[in-house]
Amino acid sequence: AYSSEGGAEKKRVQSPFEKVTIFGSGLMGSGIAQVSATYNHSVKLVDLNETALEKSQKYIMSSLKRVAKKKFPESTSDQVKFCEGVISKIQFTTKAEEAASDADLVLEAIVENVEIKRKLVATVDAVAPNSVVFATNTSSLKVGDIFANISEARRPNVGGLHFFNPVPQMKLLEVVKADTTSQETFDKMFNYGLSIGKVCVSCKDTPGFIVNRLLVPYMLEAMRMVERGDATAKDIDSSMKYGAGYPMGPFELADYVGLDTSYFISNGWYTNSELKGNDLVKPPKNLKDLVDAGRFGTKSGAGFYDYT
Ligand code: CAA
Ligand code: NAD
Repeated sequence: AYSSEGGAEKKRVQSPFEKVTIFGSGLMGSGIAQVSATYNHSVKLVDLNETALEKSQKYIMSSLKRVAKKKFPESTSDQVKFCEGVISKIQFTTKAEEAASDADLVLEAIVENVEIKRKLVATVDAVAPNSVVFATNTSSLKVGDIFANISEARRPNVGGLHFFNPVPQMKLLEVVKADTTSQETFDKMFNYGLSIGKVCVSCKDTPGFIVNRLLVPYMLEAMRMVERGDATAKDIDSSMKYGAGYPMGPFELADYVGLDTSYFISNGWYTNSELKGNDLVKPPKNLKDLVDAGRFGTKSGAGFYDYT
């Protein structure tokens, strides 16, 4: 029943949140901060150290410049004004407790590790206002597992907000209703998504929600095709781009998402989820070999392809 096409511009939905605190200033957290600030939220972006935050600031600025060039093709001064206006709404900080204690929405986009995420949940649980909505951007973990130890009173206020890379460009937002998520929390998360211009869909708390449940087995099967000697990676990529209209082939996409992340998702599902033992999600050997060799994809300069 819940899905939307068209986003905020058409529907003009007002966000239920004013202050958004995002944990993790990597690829995803930076993008979510950028988009939230663009749509007038007051954002705090938290990471472990200044180096990560400086990298994030540069990443956001370069992404904003791309958006600004399209928005104001005629005026360099309007481009600069736009970029500075958005970035001024983001406070970059390492002070986790302070950031969590002053938020309407807390969104975590830290590493894909359930124990590390649970530690952060405990930190936020101890200091955040009772009314805070607390969401995770996990790609593959069960939302309910991440919040398993949160205090009883907060259980209705947790859920999933799953964005796609690159966040400023990809229109979709998967809004996840976990077992304990209240309808009120779900509606708030959904309306926040609309308010930042996303097309929102409603998902259950199942492995990979909608997109990754289809996309990950597809990428893994492409890797198995290469292992069987059926086709080369390059020919498979060309086939899916020019025969099926995908913007990237499965190997370009796996490199773009990150081979470490792709392996983590596949291995996690195969060994410890309701998909346990399912050959559809079994990590292919070529994927594991590349990860073991430190070839994590675009971000490390090499994966299935070389980028240097
Ligand atoms: N910030 C802002 N805008 C960006 C951007 C960024 N970081 N990256 C790309 N863009 C914009 C460009 O400005 C450009 O805009 P216009 O078309 O309006 O001019 C547009 O995106 C296309 O970019 P480029 O021309 O530079 O390059 P491209 O045509 O090769 O597109 C791409 C790049 C958007 C990444 C495209 O290749 C694509 O859509 N790839 C598939 C991405 C995908 O499937 N993502 C989902 C991965 S799965 C996931 O995220 C979930 C998970 O849990 C793992
Ligand atoms: P990333 O490695 O680029 O960034 C993670 C950041 O979190 C790092 O800067 C790290 O220093 C920081 N961090 C770690 N522990 C922290 C803590 N306790 N407090 C604050 N910051 C902390 O990772 P990413 O690709 O941005 O992924 C983040 C999350 O989003 C993961 O759960 C991932 O599965 C999910 N996701 C990734 C993609 C993708 O395509 N990469 C897409 C959708 C969802």
